[in-house]
Amino acid sequence: MTVPAFLRADLSASPQARPAEPAPVRLAHNELPFPPLPSVVAALRQALTDAHRYPDPAATRLGRRLGELLGVPESDVVVGPGSAVLLQHLVQATCTPADAVLFGWPSFEAYPFVADVLGVGRRAVALDATGGHDLDRMLDAVTPATRLLIICNPNNPTGAVVARQRIAELVDAVPDHVLVVLDEAYREFSPAVDGVAVLRAARRANVAVLRTFSKAYGLAGLRVGYCIAPGPVAAALRKVTLPFTVTAAAQLAALASLDAGDELAGRVREVVTERERVRAALESMGRPCPPSHGNFLWLPSVPDADAFAAHCASAGVHVRAVPGEGVRVTVGGVGDNEAFLRAAASFPGGWHRSGAASDRTAWRED
Ligand SMILES: Cc1ncc(COP(=O)(O)O)c(C=O)c1O
Repeated sequence: MTVPAFLRADLSASPQARPAEPAPVRLAHNELPFPPLPSVVAALRQALTDAHRYPDPAATRLGRRLGELLGVPESDVVVGPGSAVLLQHLVQATCTPADAVLFGWPSFEAYPFVADVLGVGRRAVALDATGGHDLDRMLDAVTPATRLLIICNPNNPTGAVVARQRIAELVDAVPDHVLVVLDEAYREFSPAVDGVAVLRAARRANVAVLRTFSKAYGLAGLRVGYCIAPGPVAAALRKVTLPFTVTAAAQLAALASLDAGDELAGRVREVVTERERVRAALESMGRPCPPSHGNFLWLPSVPDADAFAAHCASAGVHVRAVPGEGVRVTVGGVGDNEAFLRAAASFPGGWHRSGAASDRTAWRED
């Protein structure tokens, strides 16, 4: 297709959103397998009666409540339409086209995507052989152009975590021109992960924590997440944000979810129990599957990720292939997980033992 002269030529290489695949078993998006709680549905009904009004652009009640819960000033909480959009806002608030973001790889696919769409530089540093972030090599990869160093913790798709002490050491070691971004979309599945504690301790000024209601809170369809960041960072985020992007429905549902913390914690425990059951079942079939701290499992040893995903799809199970790296599968309800295990067991291709960096092709460091 010829690119019209008024469009950015570099966008022709960027991927577009894929239409949702209508699979009977959805294990490709790291969603929660439970519908919203009745109290959340009631809050949504209430919000619908006010649908002719714009929402509170500052999400004041939700921001205040989060600030109280997390022990940070309300002004350090920025609510946005999902944590991926907040990441985009962080890049907009920190990077010019001469600057760059740095992240581990494989990791959340939005990192290179956001950098490319905003026309800023990016550098990916290969994870270590266990699927964990190699913090020393990431520090070595910082240049004068680096503005954001992103750590996905727990990491999507490998499920590995960086311990809190190591995060604190990293934050203290980066030069002044670098903001460390901790993407904690899955931290409720691994509560020891707590970047907000790192931020609060010693009142660190160079760390921002992204969290979301999409995963453990089960509100992916409503689009609401938040960033905890020290005052100047939070203020800059607010300056690059369009008003009214977080609907009143999303704000009220998030507040109702915070009120239902115990019920939601029970759901998280169920997912974690299933995660360990499915992992053990895979290992016992001779399918290597490292420990995961998210609501998903990672299969680094599938030699042809696309073929494996296509095989699962033919059995009605939608999983996420990361070509050249492995396959990520969300932990769903028991029946869905059983359907996945049957598909995995019947995959005709062989599996190999290592998913080492040297085997990787899709996202070499650049
Ligand atoms: C690591 C990570 N961060 C952020 C997100 C996106 O979250 P949200 O729905 O809040 O935009 C995802 C979604 O898959 C994710 O895996």
